[in-house]
Amino acid sequence: MPLTQHHVVPSETPMQNNTASVSKQSVTQAAQAVLAESAERGGGVQMFGIDKIYAGSTTKALDNFNLEIKPGEMVVLLGGSGCGKSTALRSLAGLEDIQHGRILVGGQDMTSVPANKRGMAMVFQAYSLFPHMSALENVEFGLEIRGIGRAERKRVAMEKLELVGLSDQAGKYTQQMSGGQQQRVALARALAINPRVLLLDEPLSALDAKVRVQLRDEIRRIQLEAGTTTVFVTHDQEEALAVADRIGVMHHGRIEQIADPTTLYRRPTTEYVATFIGLSNKIPGSSNGTEAEVFGHRVPLLDGSASGAAVNVLVRPENIILRAQASDTPGARAHVMMIHFLGSLVRVDTIVDHSGIPVTVQMPASELPTGLRNGSVVTLEPLPIPALAA
Ligand SMILES: Nc1ncnc2c1ncn2[C@@H]1O[C@H](COP(=O)(O)OP(=O)(O)O)[C@@H](O)[C@H]1O
Ligand SMILES: [Mg+2]
Repeated sequence: MPLTQHHVVPSETPMQNNTASVSKQSVTQAAQAVLAESAERGGGVQMFGIDKIYAGSTTKALDNFNLEIKPGEMVVLLGGSGCGKSTALRSLAGLEDIQHGRILVGGQDMTSVPANKRGMAMVFQAYSLFPHMSALENVEFGLEIRGIGRAERKRVAMEKLELVGLSDQAGKYTQQMSGGQQQRVALARALAINPRVLLLDEPLSALDAKVRVQLRDEIRRIQLEAGTTTVFVTHDQEEALAVADRIGVMHHGRIEQIADPTTLYRRPTTEYVATFIGLSNKIPGSSNGTEAEVFGHRVPLLDGSASGAAVNVLVRPENIILRAQASDTPGARAHVMMIHFLGSLVRVDTIVDHSGIPVTVQMPASELPTGLRNGSVVTLEPLPIPALAA
């Protein structure tokens, strides 16, 4: 697409070229205005060294949990059941007492500020709406208890219902609405109070697959439009990859790695992250810490890789070449166990001869060797793409 003057072009030219006609004074004022606006909108979030132990429990639900979120950013906390996602969210909201740590929002210490003074709004998995109230009344509710007058209440509520695509359903009782519509109302209600931080705890988990995909894209659109700093909790990696600016992968009460989706997939720093996000083959090899030998091929290693004569190299299915028949070039001889057609992609499960290691290879459907079937003999060769050794 050709660039027009409406596009912001990342500039490598010195600042003064762009601001020649603008005085230093007004540049500073503009910068201050941006900062003030972002602070007013809520600013970022900082959680430092949070420990949370539930009464009667001996394990830490949060164990030196750290998280920093930039203003307007959508961070997803991703992890299996019980890893502490909801506890992290509830601690940020002020709904849990924490034993240790500090919480800042917009640079302001919130650690001992009660939940109702933190200016945060939460949407849960279960629709927590009043069933005997209309969509509009539900959205107005939070404004009413904040003492906002009737006309202003209605104006703001209608604006938010419009934002979530429900302005024509304002008068409908929420109990007559579908699950997806109810979650839209819950989102409108959360946004109506103009929260500094929006907290979403598995908001799509109770919905069926199709609505879930639609609504997750909608939530991202709405969040970008509103510019609200958001924490989205889910156990669903596809959902996380679809909506996040950054994903924090949680394990045992802390974030094991936080990064943008691409970095997380290409440069995992731990075995847990490499196997939790996407598929990884675990192939035995030897490593000197920067390079591994796998199936007679050299594979460069990511930072944090283990070294030793017997490590596991975590290789993505798309980073292995599968050749039909046994070849004389280095590689592992294997047998095809199963071929999965995934539309434009094909995934081939194989078992390496002698060692019995399972290796899955993925390729564009157009590159599948003709005649390949279960029981075929193949040769596997890892590509020289950085991988993690553990
Ligand atoms: N109210 C509670 N009382 C005691 N233990 C709890 C309570 N809530 C959660 N836990 C425990 O804390 C850990 C983290 O739970 P949670 O934050 O709900 O995980 P997630 O949301 O990732 O599934 C789990 O071991 C869970 O059993
Ligand atoms: Mg939870």
